[in-house]
Amino acid sequence: MHSSFAARLTAWQKMHGRHDLPWQVSDPYRIWLSEIMLQQTQVKSVLEYYPRFLARFPDVAALAAAPQEDVLTLWSGLGYYSRARNLHKAAQMVMAEFGGSFPAERQQLERLPGVGRSTAAAIASFAFGRRETILDGNVKRVLTRCFGVAGFPGERAVEQSLWRLAEDLLPRDAALMSAYTQGLMDLGATVCSRGKPACTVCPMVDGCVAAREGRTGELPTPRPKKTVPTRHTVMLLATHGDKVWLLRRPPTGIWGGLLSLPEFETSTQAEDWLQRTGRGDALPAWPELEHVFTHYRLIITPLPARLDGLNGGAAMEDNGQWLPLAEAPDAGVPAPVRRLLLRLAE
Ligand code: ADE
Repeated sequence: MHSSFAARLTAWQKMHGRHDLPWQVSDPYRIWLSEIMLQQTQVKSVLEYYPRFLARFPDVAALAAAPQEDVLTLWSGLGYYSRARNLHKAAQMVMAEFGGSFPAERQQLERLPGVGRSTAAAIASFAFGRRETILDGNVKRVLTRCFGVAGFPGERAVEQSLWRLAEDLLPRDAALMSAYTQGLMDLGATVCSRGKPACTVCPMVDGCVAAREGRTGELPTPRPKKTVPTRHTVMLLATHGDKVWLLRRPPTGIWGGLLSLPEFETSTQAEDWLQRTGRGDALPAWPELEHVFTHYRLIITPLPARLDGLNGGAAMEDNGQWLPLAEAPDAGVPAPVRRLLLRLAE
């Protein structure tokens, strides 16, 4: 199995893999951009955002020269905004440190913000035919099943053994690297899926440990259970006519650099703030909204308030702005805030 893995995979990719994705090109910029977008997002969504992004930023120089706000705006909806900030920084680094050309070495690519070992390997193999292996979640699933590797792959020791295994499996011939890397991705995405793997059409089935032993349901070994804490926040939907008050968040931390709604710890604090400043009364709160992050659950209480009266319409804080309700949802705001703004605009 070890010795035939690469040959089986590349032959399968050529016959049954994906060949019509817009990032299957030779331009390292386009490859890099797709890999960053695809890090936590489905191909289907990326297919929507990718052409728009490229139309506005056709090359790394254009991206590097753009204001961060423009990058975040075009990214809005894809989520995980640190990816967009890192993307922008990385573009500037390619201009400043690599003379505007992406480096071909995996180790150099890893110096770019947002580019980990697997993403660097994807770029190096797709764009430059380097013999470097990817190891994302899909590939971990393929390898743990195929070779019967037990233990949670997020655990250091398990992950290290998977990196070693993945490197052993690489084809000798660098000319096969694009098909091989794409084959790993395609097999994980289409055949060796999480729920119901299609073992009958898998090129590895006769050598696969999980298929032979009926263990596709238990491999890869799941993460040991942990409970995430819950946090609460009150978001103020302050309107003046057809405008809503938004604040620019600090550049670091959750939703860094995005526009968002003013937040308070409790409804009472929000109401005190409204009254103290003589700006108006809160209306009844809307139903709570839940947003799940990696490390905690955020429960949002949306609190509408009309500030049409005293002093309404004037700027209230330096980092804030009144934005027309028609524009606000698409101004680069976090996903749950976008949902609230769309509802408010109805
Ligand atoms: N996921 C991550 N990279 C990908 C690629 N190049 N093609 C399809 N899905 C991917």
